[in-house]
Amino acid sequence: MITETPGKALISAITHRTAVIGVVGLGYVGLSNAVAFAEAGFRVIGIDIESERVAKINRGESHLEHVPGEAVAEQVRAQRLSAATDFDVVSTLDCVLVCVPTPVRRDTVDPEPDLSHVRAAAQAIAPRLKPGSLVVLESTTFAGTTEDVLRPLLEASGLVAGRDFLLGYAPERIDPGNRQFALESIPRLVSGHGPDCQEAVRALYSQVFESVRLVSSIRAAEVSKLFENTFRWVNIGLVNELKMMCDSMGLDVWEVISAASTKPFGFLPFFPGPGVGGHCIPVDPYYLAWNARQVGMEARFVSLAGRINSSMPGYVVQRTAEALLAHDKELTGARLLVAGVAYKRDVDDIRESPSLEIMRLLGQEGATVDYHDPHVPQLPENAVGPDAVKSKTLSTRLAAEYDAVLILVDHSDIDWEQLVGGAPLVIDTRNVTERLPRLDFQVVRG
Ligand SMILES: NC(=O)c1ccc[n+]([C@@H]2O[C@H](COP(=O)([O-])OP(=O)(O)OC[C@H]3O[C@@H](n4cnc5c(N)ncnc54)[C@H](O)[C@@H]3O)[C@@H](O)[C@H]2O)c1
Repeated sequence: MITETPGKALISAITHRTAVIGVVGLGYVGLSNAVAFAEAGFRVIGIDIESERVAKINRGESHLEHVPGEAVAEQVRAQRLSAATDFDVVSTLDCVLVCVPTPVRRDTVDPEPDLSHVRAAAQAIAPRLKPGSLVVLESTTFAGTTEDVLRPLLEASGLVAGRDFLLGYAPERIDPGNRQFALESIPRLVSGHGPDCQEAVRALYSQVFESVRLVSSIRAAEVSKLFENTFRWVNIGLVNELKMMCDSMGLDVWEVISAASTKPFGFLPFFPGPGVGGHCIPVDPYYLAWNARQVGMEARFVSLAGRINSSMPGYVVQRTAEALLAHDKELTGARLLVAGVAYKRDVDDIRESPSLEIMRLLGQEGATVDYHDPHVPQLPENAVGPDAVKSKTLSTRLAAEYDAVLILVDHSDIDWEQLVGGAPLVIDTRNVTERLPRLDFQVVRG
């Protein structure tokens, strides 16, 4: 047990960049942070249970499109970055950033937080935790996770948070595929378990991030992150509902949004789509809803937006069937090309992607469905059907082989003119065709 304030020595090591940083979970969040701290001059050791990922990083390669392989290679070569599957390295770490997944279980009445990865990571860290070190949870999660779930698991080591080790929370805000905001330029929220922990977390993140905001309690920081993503979830639900209303009224929702966006205050544009995917937006609001249930409340906006957003894949299928019928074609037996299977533009991530659900639904209706996505060369087994499926190679003749093309993701590096050229029918859920100069095909805004 250490007697003097644990934070002082650590803050000195952090500001001199001699502190060794561990990153537990080397996915979208963890690998990005590991590279950022290494680039800032820290020695960084990543830990992941996936041995292939670890081996790749140690070879100087990246498993993620948005983290350049060259950036990983440079840090590995400089011996600032390495990775391990064995948690024994934790005993050498001054700071441990926990970046493991926080999914929801969907086999319950309401989606329920699944903290199994956080718990497993904490149980592996605890027996190896170095006195005086700092543990920061970065995963998005419900209020109370850091102090009521993570802390007792770490304190099973015999060390006490705030006295023998430091504990903090720093929700991640990275937006893979967004070229406008580099990781370091996104302001960071941080908080800690008492003043010493707060100062240590703030000192650590200030080494890498241009702007760091200290939030007065970990719980407030946990809810701030949930609110950010719930705000998107609810507004996407609202605009998806507006889309369906406009379709029924014979109005173009894109024109309506564009017109409303001329208001210089009090309005923020959101855009409709075929549904909501990814590991964050369709998941995090249910963590907030769980918090609400614990205090006897219902997060009504969350469940309403959930109903609307999850109905969108079915709506796209229905619009496709109607458009085909107008072309004297049945959905059953139709040949369809889906453009974009990632969950959003310019990423290679297919988690919870609405495109996959749309492909499954179309297949159930008896359509034959292929796809093109430059970011996703192959869909693994069971993503849509039992077999793995390959992305179709783009050519000027590709679209002519199909009864319709469904634009589901507006990747910026697709040659859209080439892709839709020759298509008899285009179902455009992203308003991509608006930007194309020649329209010699029929477009239905799906
Ligand atoms: N992906 C994003 O854009 C994003 C943005 C902001 C916040 N977040 C949040 O960050 C957290 C991580 O998300 P992600 O997208 O990086 O997940 P991910 O699935 O890409 O990566 C998680 C990594 O953790 C590893 N892992 C799982 N259990 C582990 C354990 N017990 N010990 C060590 N490693 C373990 C996995 O093998 C994987 O490599 C989540 O809470 C997520 O909500 C994600």
